[in-house]
Amino acid sequence: MKILVINGPNLNMLGIREPDVYGRSTYNDLCDMLKSHAAEQGIELEIFQSNHEGAIVDKIQSAYNSFDGIVINPAAYTHTSVALLDALKAVAIPAVEVHISDVSTREAFRSISYVREYCEKTIFGKGFNGYIEAMDYLSEKYK
Ligand code: DQA
Repeated sequence: MKILVINGPNLNMLGIREPDVYGRSTYNDLCDMLKSHAAEQGIELEIFQSNHEGAIVDKIQSAYNSFDGIVINPAAYTHTSVALLDALKAVAIPAVEVHISDVSTREAFRSISYVREYCEKTIFGKGFNGYIEAMDYLSEKYK
């Protein structure tokens, strides 16, 4: 099982950005947690982060025929990007949408998600554990 985890803009600032919303753990803490979970579960894992929409589109396209699942937190692009939705549809790799915060109780615009139309599941408000839940869902379903 080969999983690609994609993180969108400003998630590299975890630990610094709005700690009351996203917590004090850093982006490196997140990566370490995901890597050790993947190692325990025998999941092959690649983690990618970009602040640029086109770079994320390129990464999704490059996953075609080489990954079994995608875990994506598109961050702010969740609420704006048809391009990310189209890229996911193009490669047709099973995907799960993750948000660290509870987007359902924040500003109204955060309840809009373009990628949700494609993703099999959306996990939000569970902090970093949401990524683990998403990886486990994909590895259980597509092992
Ligand atoms: C986020 C929620 C988004 O609304 C926000 O723009 C982010 C992070 C989350 O993980 O909770 O950057 O996707």
